[in-house]
Amino acid sequence: QREMARLDVTETFQGIIFPGHLHTQESLRYATNFKFQDTDTLIVTYPKSGTTWMQEVVTMVSCRGDTVKSQTQPNWARAPWIEQYYCPDVLKASQGPRLLTTHLPYELLASALQGSKAKVIYVARNPKDVVVSYYYFHKMAKFLKDPGTFSEFLSDFLEGTVYYGSWFDHVKGWTSNARNIDNFLYITYEEMWEDLRGSLMKVSRFLQCSLLEDELTSAQKTCGFNTMSQNCMVNYTLIPQEIMDHSKGKFMRKGQIGDWVNTFSQEQSHNFDEVYASKMADSMLKFVWET
Ligand code: A3P
Repeated sequence: QREMARLDVTETFQGIIFPGHLHTQESLRYATNFKFQDTDTLIVTYPKSGTTWMQEVVTMVSCRGDTVKSQTQPNWARAPWIEQYYCPDVLKASQGPRLLTTHLPYELLASALQGSKAKVIYVARNPKDVVVSYYYFHKMAKFLKDPGTFSEFLSDFLEGTVYYGSWFDHVKGWTSNARNIDNFLYITYEEMWEDLRGSLMKVSRFLQCSLLEDELTSAQKTCGFNTMSQNCMVNYTLIPQEIMDHSKGKFMRKGQIGDWVNTFSQEQSHNFDEVYASKMADSMLKFVWET
């Protein structure tokens, strides 16, 4: 039984599927040929890994704790996704150093980033929480495919046949090629969760933008889950109901580590662990799975 009408259209580009509502062949080509500037900061994530959170963190660091931008400019206007169709227009209208976002896998941006001094921040999150967050997001975001049951969506996720491709390829692609990028910061959702202030300091050092104690305190408050949940510039409530149905679930859903236990069965978790062990055997990455 399918519920309310969906607006999903799928765009396939270099073997990866993308939500057609936001991506076109042209916008994806624009991204893969993106002209990075040395003053750019690029936030890179697999979906549902803390993208919006990092957009707020970088905004608050760059604004040195001043909340005006975070309270007046939607996240997609201050940190556009380079692969989404509206990016060129947003950038034309913007001034100063650019904050950019992408969900693209490394391979699609490798040549555009080659030789660039742009700063790249990669945020990763434990994939059990990612898949659960992604599943509930598909339920409320009408421009994404109906995810079916969790079990069906989980199989697609493990096979990499979801939007933006395989989580495994994404994290391994970016982290194993970090040495090819001049300025690269790797941080996890869990680290931000466990120590938001320390994470803000880490990002501020990386961006060479030091904050005074009270500026840091303001940034920490603004980037907290409760504040962000209520800030319409980052909680996606400005998006029309037909596109994101907040009666089906919130974008700022739970903001927890280990919430996956409430959705995974034991068998699903066991199967996931086996796939994870085999796909991540060649990676040094370690994740925090629960608190
Ligand atoms: P949940 O669905 O698990 O709650 P993205 O921005 O990449 O789409 O990621 C969205 C996820 O990040 C959601 O996870 C959302 O609640 C969580 N998130 C956003 N801001 C957060 C914050 N300040 N603290 C903790 N989690 C946050």
